[in-house]
Amino acid sequence: MKTEALKKLLESMTLAEKIGQLVQWNYAALAMTDAEVTGPETLQLSADAMKYFGSVLNFSSADEMIRLQKQYLAGQEHPVPLLFMMDVIHGYRTAFPIPLAQAGSFDPDLVKECARAASAEAAAGGVHLTFTPMVDHVRDPRWGRVMESCGEDPYLSGIMGAAQVEGFRGKDLTDKGTLAVCVKHYAGYGAPEGGRDYNQAELSEHVLREWYLPAYKACLDAGADMIMPSFNSLNGLPSVANPWLMNQVLRDEWRFEGAVISDYNALDELITQGVAENRQHAAVQAMNCGCDIDMVSGCYASDLEKAVREGLISEDQINTAAMRVLKVKNDLGLFEDPFRGASADPETVNRLAREHRPLAEKAAIASAVLLKNTGVLPFDKAAKRIAVIGPFADSREIVGAWCCNCDTRETVTVAEGIRTLLPDAEVTVVTGCSARIGDTDGSMIGEAAHAAENADCVILCVGEEMECSGEGRSRASISLPGMQAELVRRVAGANPNTAVVLFGGRPLDLTPVEKIAPAMLEMWMPGTEGGTAAAKLLFGDAEPCGKLAMSFPKSAGQLPLFYARSNTGRPKQAPEDEYQPYCSNYMDCGNLPLYSFGHGLTYTEFRYDELRSEKTELRAGEDLNVTVRLTNTGKRTGTETVQLYINDKFSSVVTPVQKLAAFGRITLAPGESSEISLTVSHERMKLWNFAGQSVIEPGAFEISAGYADHLLLTQTFTVS
Ligand code: BGC
Repeated sequence: MKTEALKKLLESMTLAEKIGQLVQWNYAALAMTDAEVTGPETLQLSADAMKYFGSVLNFSSADEMIRLQKQYLAGQEHPVPLLFMMDVIHGYRTAFPIPLAQAGSFDPDLVKECARAASAEAAAGGVHLTFTPMVDHVRDPRWGRVMESCGEDPYLSGIMGAAQVEGFRGKDLTDKGTLAVCVKHYAGYGAPEGGRDYNQAELSEHVLREWYLPAYKACLDAGADMIMPSFNSLNGLPSVANPWLMNQVLRDEWRFEGAVISDYNALDELITQGVAENRQHAAVQAMNCGCDIDMVSGCYASDLEKAVREGLISEDQINTAAMRVLKVKNDLGLFEDPFRGASADPETVNRLAREHRPLAEKAAIASAVLLKNTGVLPFDKAAKRIAVIGPFADSREIVGAWCCNCDTRETVTVAEGIRTLLPDAEVTVVTGCSARIGDTDGSMIGEAAHAAENADCVILCVGEEMECSGEGRSRASISLPGMQAELVRRVAGANPNTAVVLFGGRPLDLTPVEKIAPAMLEMWMPGTEGGTAAAKLLFGDAEPCGKLAMSFPKSAGQLPLFYARSNTGRPKQAPEDEYQPYCSNYMDCGNLPLYSFGHGLTYTEFRYDELRSEKTELRAGEDLNVTVRLTNTGKRTGTETVQLYINDKFSSVVTPVQKLAAFGRITLAPGESSEISLTVSHERMKLWNFAGQSVIEPGAFEISAGYADHLLLTQTFTVS
């Protein structure tokens, strides 16, 4: 539909119809099903509330969408199709690795490909818009939603978020198999105090501008259609009622013209949070902050029309909001085809899911991180007796939270992956103790240790249950739940040819495990083909190449923790494991993480030979081209993610000692040397100054390869 026609449509609509566009209901509430909801579901929808609404979330099939769409359109004088939304976070039917894992591939093309595949399945399943990407900046793995994020570096998050946007949206939203996207949770939802979900966040403007806001902006620049404010309070106000965030930054500065949707029941929660007196007050505040769609609270449905009649909200505001919603529908081509080619035949999604399995395996391989290897990995494929031990040895529950429509019965377990790869080996599976929080049953540990003793190699699959991360899943301790640390101690003690394979949605405190495990492979929640990927990695049919997108602390007491720390006036000079009085350090723990952002081993070794900058003097606004030469000095072909970090030597505000500035991947055969060229954008040289500006300050900068405390080949350049 042309914009003119859309305007005419809007003009022809009654106030109630227009407000209806701003109302979203849960499919479960409309259809009285018991689909999973992520918040209170107390509202009984009245016949009036069900007369006009604009969108629906959380439904389970194309069939449901088609039925409801037909029914709704048939009852409308101005038939405006409903918009169907869902959390397609890392897959629809096929589960790809969780976003935190995918970010560690440092491969935006792959992330885009996964989003593309998820989009095709979801669109066939009747979804029009996904609540993805989630690019909350995260520094505290006690918060269970870190699994949905792209990690602790805003530059990486922005790139991975943008890759998701491009993957889901494709070239044109009217193309089959594309989805519109909603970036979330703007802003600061990733910084809840104590890592406890929904808790308040207090962040200075400086920290917000430097660390928390850029990734949302990158996703909007990539074309995101919608944005969701966070429902926790940031600096004293829940985001949906925060005029600075919603009006000043989002609309005035960033010029975002797309739609805003509240988070689940967020309007009603303004009352619980104590900033709205009643539902009308909540509706008025959200509307005044440019919130176009009210997700399920019903405040718009019940109170907005009255607010207009009382002059608290103008009809113009309603028109603007309704137009934004109509525009998303129009961009999706819903007026021409309200079903968007969704197929009521479940075989369409099944077929796509079958086609996407190789990609799921590729992504799981690329996302896995080899944390430690004393040389036991890769295991010899000639191994005759293989013990696969632990709660995740034969588990299908390795897809991760938020993979709403996936069927875990289709997941390949680690034991299955190994049996397929090595059909002649004798594979003994001992599921060992459970990964449940608080479980004290270690009765299977003896059997597990016995199986380990009698095996040529041992694969010990431990971690956190799938339900331990995701929304509302915060932990105060992030150690291995239950008796698993004891399981690791006994099994690794029984057979030194043991690799610990880790599953979970967050960085764990692995300090006790690291002391005894000869090798550790982090698989995260790898998805449908997780077992195939693990088997291939463990036996050398695939090369590990993933890097951490989030640091693993030595202890939860270090949290929040991230690599891009600022220097204090008293930085620690002593070795990491020594305490230094009157310096910034802990008496009982080092400062560094156990494994930092950017860490990840391969089965080969890379020597960094040279870093050359094209120029040593730049004018502000110029990019810096850098070439890094490296050599594969090991015995296997491997892929290295070359990371460049920048440091502003002297500036008007304290800046981090290192900040990711560019990255790229290179594959080298044994003995091969080659160069990789990377561009450090001038954007990476900017800082947020105290006058409230993003500027490049003249002076000296350093650029280094490596990561965290392993920086090398540092070069200096100046900006004038
Ligand atoms: C979550 C959002 C999600 C929404 C809809 C909320 O509880 O915070 O991330 O998109 O539910 O499922």
